[in-house]
Amino acid sequence: MAQPLTQSNPQATKPKSSMLLRYIAIIILALIIIVGLAVLISWLVVRPKNLQYSVEDASIHNFNLTDANHLYANFDFTIRSKNPNSKVSLYYDSIEVSVRYEDQTLATNAVQPFFQPHKNVTRMHARLTAQTVALYDSVPKDLKLERSSGDIALDVFIRARIRFKVGLLKTRHRTLRISCSPVLVNFSKAKSFERAYCDVEM
Ligand SMILES: *[C@@H]1O[C@H](CO)[C@@H](O)[C@H](O)[C@H]1NC(C)=O
Ligand SMILES: *[C@@H]1O[C@H](CO)[C@@H](O)[C@H](O)[C@H]1NC(C)=O
Ligand SMILES: *[C@@H]1O[C@H](CO)[C@@H](O)[C@H](O)[C@H]1NC(C)=O
Repeated sequence: MAQPLTQSNPQATKPKSSMLLRYIAIIILALIIIVGLAVLISWLVVRPKNLQYSVEDASIHNFNLTDANHLYANFDFTIRSKNPNSKVSLYYDSIEVSVRYEDQTLATNAVQPFFQPHKNVTRMHARLTAQTVALYDSVPKDLKLERSSGDIALDVFIRARIRFKVGLLKTRHRTLRISCSPVLVNFSKAKSFERAYCDVEM
């Protein structure tokens, strides 16, 4: 980088300043390499342990499946998020929760971003609203059957953009895909919900 400068300006003072520039460039490069190595080593040392998620509670309100096979409903989910790591904390910068039934997405909503310290359990509350969702194929028929049986098997999917924090270092964004299936929800308000464990993919 410094060479073209020297050639186009053959004055006596220029070689000195180009040497200086070269030293500065070398120092900056060395710093970048050292910081990079430090990040890599601390990452390998404190590699995050499995993050754990489960759906702790779920309920359905205002369920209405019209004759035209349009669905109106509110779904409430309490999602437990556990960070078992003792050195790694997490930024959840965006979280999107969706509920599916037989591969059809019924509703999607965002959850408030949050910071999760190390060795922490945080509960996310997601309220998803299905409004005039047109149902296809066998979905309306099956949904009506499950409605009359009292229980419904839903799938809950969570997509989160996260960053890890180790000491003062923060990693780049990565996408977390969490799937909880099946989540059995009872239409009656009975407190009989059985926790559903989720799979995590990063
Ligand atoms: C369900 O929705 C239809 C169409 O909007 C409405 O006519 C009906 O009253 C609703 N039923 C209930 C129980 O809310
Ligand atoms: C988890 O972190 C949140 C946010 O910092 C805090 O409010 C909560 O009390 C923590 N929970 C536990 C179990 O440490
Ligand atoms: C769901 O609620 C119905 C009553 O609406 C009840 O008969 C049934 O046993 C409940 N199912 C479970 C798994 O608790």
